[in-house]
Amino acid sequence: STTSLARELKAALKTYPDFPSEGISFEDFLPIFANHELFQKLIEAFKIHIQESLADKKIDYVVGLESRGFLFGPTLALAIGAGFVPVRKPGKLPGTIVQTSFKKEYGEDVFEMQVGAIPPDSNVIVVDDILATGGSATAAGSLVKQVGGTILEFMFVMELEFLKGRNTLPAPTFTLLSGQQR
Ligand code: PRP
Ligand code: MG
Repeated sequence: STTSLARELKAALKTYPDFPSEGISFEDFLPIFANHELFQKLIEAFKIHIQESLADKKIDYVVGLESRGFLFGPTLALAIGAGFVPVRKPGKLPGTIVQTSFKKEYGEDVFEMQVGAIPPDSNVIVVDDILATGGSATAAGSLVKQVGGTILEFMFVMELEFLKGRNTLPAPTFTLLSGQQR
């Protein structure tokens, strides 16, 4: 089941207190990617969720957030037969772009997306590693909306539940390691 997969993935995480700054507890999920069987299980667990939760929907694009959403977004996109579109930090994308600034758990940032990367009326899922305050995901969501896409769901590997970021997001939200869904 998804839950036992989640347990196995969770066991591979390593927590670093006071990183990147005092008082922040950093969940390092990179060991999952170093182990090809776990990496495969991570993708499989998302796929199972998508088959259960979005069975009647055609997902056109997986939108992944720089940087850590790039580590598995494209792999998930391939696995579910969708395209991959990046949301990037400022100054990286050529051509016409949409842009938004936002606050996150530690500091402020800007996200950009290329106009035309997602045709209007596309169905999109937005993926990232961690849901903290929800600032990053909300900003990505607003870019998807600006270009006319529809967000079916936000998906994360894990969630800092005490920050209640999911309450701020404009679409249903799934986090793999808690198995939580709304
Ligand atoms: C981290 C994390 C999420 C975001 C979550 O990214 O990977 O993208 O913060 O925080 P929020 O919910 O409060 O917005 P960060 O921008 O720190 O760096 P990265 O480039 O390593 O992904
Ligand atoms: Mg990030």
